[in-house]
Amino acid sequence: MATRHIISIGDFDRQEIDRLLDHAAQIYKKKYNENALHGKILAVLFFEPSTRTRMSFESAMARLGGTSLSVGSVEACSMAKGETLADTIRVVSGYADAIVIRHPKEGAARLAAEFATVPVINAGDGAGQHPSQTLLDLYTIRQSMPIDGIDVALIGDLRYGRTAHSLASALSLYNARLHTISPKGLELPATLVADLQAKGMEITEHDDIREIIGMVDVLYVTRMQRERFPDSASYFNVASSYRITPELLAGANENLIVLHPLPRVDEIDPRVDTSAHARYFEQSRNGVPVRMAMLMDVLK
Ligand code: NCD
Repeated sequence: MATRHIISIGDFDRQEIDRLLDHAAQIYKKKYNENALHGKILAVLFFEPSTRTRMSFESAMARLGGTSLSVGSVEACSMAKGETLADTIRVVSGYADAIVIRHPKEGAARLAAEFATVPVINAGDGAGQHPSQTLLDLYTIRQSMPIDGIDVALIGDLRYGRTAHSLASALSLYNARLHTISPKGLELPATLVADLQAKGMEITEHDDIREIIGMVDVLYVTRMQRERFPDSASYFNVASSYRITPELLAGANENLIVLHPLPRVDEIDPRVDTSAHARYFEQSRNGVPVRMAMLMDVLK
């Protein structure tokens, strides 16, 4: 059988996503074998900062009896000596049974998969994709409502935000309608919009979240991806241009849920944390069962 890589959410069809989320739901209820991945090793190659993704992959591995390996910081590994990503991946393939990689360059995970002899999971490639985040986003939505036909507002930096790209693609499999709100210049990439529209997805751009707050089911908030801006002036021009507050949510439909992949900077007022709409901390916790299901898939 060919090595199973997870590079883009497009690697999954609807049936595969649903099966994986069903499996995660079993795991969530503690129905799993604690030794399912005993003896397996996951290499964690992160060339960008991470708290949730990295720790939840490591936690997932540990809960299934497996082990994780990492080089620590980028500065501590041989890429700092000029080794190519291709060589690093070839070497790491000899030390582990799967590789989870995060890299600042779009396409890096796909390149890694070409040189790896073990499964590669993309944990974020620049402004590209973040498929494991999308699976846990979908899982979190499904805990509150069926995904089919929902209205989802994506707000924030939709240009550089990889979580928004992967989620938008996945939602097209569920006939969801997309409402986008972003500062000028940070809109969802035109190629992605065209691609989703060709698949029949309804996508509407709005200037102000207040226009639609009363009719959406999910409000997906993202931070400005400051590290991907060409310079700090262009960041400061748009920073703090939107903020979700309890006052704004007063106009929301009662079942609206607010998601955020985290980390948040100042785009969600902390007073929202205690509102019945807030789901973002639950969402980050869901990273563990969802990644357990993913690891069991690729390492079985
Ligand atoms: C996201 C990422 O790395 O793309 N974080 C995460 O994995 N939860 C979102 C972000 O950094 O803004």
